[in-house]
Amino acid sequence: MKTYRWGILGLGNIAHKFVQDLQTVENAELYAVGSRSQNKADKFAKEYNASKAYGSYEELIQDPNIDVVYIATPHVFHKVNTISVLNSGKAVLCEKAFAMNQNEVEEMIRTAQDNQVFLMEALWTNFMPTIKTLKDFQEKNTYGNIKHIQAEFCFKAPFDPKKRLFNPKLGGGALLDIGIYPVYLALKLLGKPNHISAESKLSTTGVDLETKMSFEYENGVKADLFCSFDQTKENFAFIEFEKAKVELGPRFHETDKLSIITSNNTIEKDFNYQAKGYHFEIAHVQDCLDQGLTESPLMPFEFSLELIKTLDEIRAIAGLDYE
Ligand SMILES: NC(=O)c1ccc[n+]([C@@H]2O[C@H](COP(=O)([O-])OP(=O)(O)OC[C@H]3O[C@@H](n4cnc5c(N)ncnc54)[C@H](OP(=O)(O)O)[C@@H]3O)[C@@H](O)[C@H]2O)c1
Repeated sequence: MKTYRWGILGLGNIAHKFVQDLQTVENAELYAVGSRSQNKADKFAKEYNASKAYGSYEELIQDPNIDVVYIATPHVFHKVNTISVLNSGKAVLCEKAFAMNQNEVEEMIRTAQDNQVFLMEALWTNFMPTIKTLKDFQEKNTYGNIKHIQAEFCFKAPFDPKKRLFNPKLGGGALLDIGIYPVYLALKLLGKPNHISAESKLSTTGVDLETKMSFEYENGVKADLFCSFDQTKENFAFIEFEKAKVELGPRFHETDKLSIITSNNTIEKDFNYQAKGYHFEIAHVQDCLDQGLTESPLMPFEFSLELIKTLDEIRAIAGLDYE
């Protein structure tokens, strides 16, 4: 198996967590980091022992020794950053939300296809053992069909109109940042809904402070989803099958714990991994590259497109607009 040399583009909060997990993955080397600031790049490279520290994204992109770049910039820059890296012939793992809207995601996918280079949305939850377990229950019909999903992701975010979470110019707002996880879960388990209703409460900056969504499917199946920057919650997901209720959480999007509650008993599963959970998506990207794939079978373009189309639809219904 080849050792993959990773480059990190954008050295904010998530880049730190990601590289800590990267260092636990076999055949993954943190090779280079790129920031708009040379000082920041030097400090980050020293902290995590990266070989190269670049004071611009362009220098990182032009380094021929990098195999794959992880993009961890604000949402509005995902398209331009991804396309620049793909055009340099390197594989890309780009943070969620993949981009600001469907058109942008389509352009990114076209660029990957034109260059015959690997591209994947870094929706880390998709690679967790909890999600695999839920899909297995569905595929094996262990507890019958799903009747209802309830999922939320809420935390009290300190208000700062200039920073990423509240700034519309950086693609802020609860829906794109954290609402994407409950939406992802509903799409993963139930697919595209027949009907969506959505309502947002806006922050003074114009991005959504909270968004409440309801997805309706055939036979009365429903998903009730919620996200908020205005209150901290436990962030469970409850998946109600015909013969059991499965609870994921707290913080369903990253938990290693799952409970299965039936009329007879409760089974607790603890996958008990030591890393934060980014190692699953990192290992998957390397597996894809080993196989010469340009698209992930677990997070295919079709799913990322369905996800961004659904987010676009929710925005249209809830009246969320970006320039
Ligand atoms: N998977 C997860 O668990 C998870 C968790 C949190 C966030 N995320 C996603 O990761 C991405 C980044 O989030 P984050 O929380 O790490 O954000 P952040 O702390 O604000 O960092 C973003 C980085 O992007 C770069 N950047 C480039 N242009 C910028 C601009 N005009 N203003 C501000 N920063 C700019 C900066 O890096 P340099 O200064 O080094 O250039 C900055 O440090 C988002 O897509 C977010 O949704 C994912």
